[in-house]
Amino acid sequence: MRGAPLKAAVVGHPIAHSQSPTIHGHWLESTGIAGTYEALDFHPDSFAVDIRGLVERGFQGVNVTVPHKEAALALADTIDATARRIGASNTLVFTDGKIEARNTDAYGFWENLAPSLSGRVPSRALVLGAGGAARAVLVALQDAGVTDIVLANRTVSRARALADELADTAQIEALSWDDAEALMDRETLPLIVNTSSRGMKGENPITCAMAAQTAQTMVNDIVYNPLQTALLTNARARGCQTVDGLGMLLHQARPAFQAFFGGRVSVDAGLRHKVERRMGLV
Ligand code: ATR
Repeated sequence: MRGAPLKAAVVGHPIAHSQSPTIHGHWLESTGIAGTYEALDFHPDSFAVDIRGLVERGFQGVNVTVPHKEAALALADTIDATARRIGASNTLVFTDGKIEARNTDAYGFWENLAPSLSGRVPSRALVLGAGGAARAVLVALQDAGVTDIVLANRTVSRARALADELADTAQIEALSWDDAEALMDRETLPLIVNTSSRGMKGENPITCAMAAQTAQTMVNDIVYNPLQTALLTNARARGCQTVDGLGMLLHQARPAFQAFFGGRVSVDAGLRHKVERRMGLV
């Protein structure tokens, strides 16, 4: 006898903007797995109760988005090592009534970037921004073997605190935004990653000169709306290599799909185009 369809969802507040139903829906279709994936708006006041309700209803798990990523960590019965280091969870997996918190953002970031680096691990990286997204990027860079990281933020005290908290196998130096702009004019860096919300649609774009950057520099913006941010356009004009941020969103979903539905899936051009069209990016 075939079992009931497997059930998963993305939970956030608000949730209408989430692309996760499109991504998981694409893979449910391509694998032929009998499953459902929905978007649920959970209010912060009732988040824990609402999650437990899904466990009781037999869900396999959920993806978690803003503003619940820290609350998700707090309610879990077990926490994997990556989620613990990042201090947030984007994936809750339900097994035998227990909730396991994972974080696949660091994985998604590196999977998106690594093919463009052709196996090279940058000796040094400049990370712009010290918010939630920076946490996953700092963990991923260290796990990949980057040992020298400069972390720049508008509020430099926040960069200092994050550097102190997350420095593990790398040395992380905290800088102000202005000092980072001066660094980009002075020194050719192998990798620059923007994790800040600057450059997002409706926000102040990053327009610094980057005078010392060359074809040796890889620039990755994890902002994906717009796909071509001012930072990436400027970097390309200087001859730098660039990677946009949409792939991180797509790749972070792969381990979650496998956990919820048991299927191994890949990020292909068809999926990327579907999400780009749905978001009005092309
Ligand atoms: P996320 O979880 O997406 O990283 P966040 O935690 O709110 O979001 O962090 C946003 C990041 O973008 C922060 O590093 C923030 O800098 P501050 O810590 O100084 O607030 C950065 N940011 C947002 N708007 C910015 C702007 N106009 N100029 C520079 N940095 C900005």
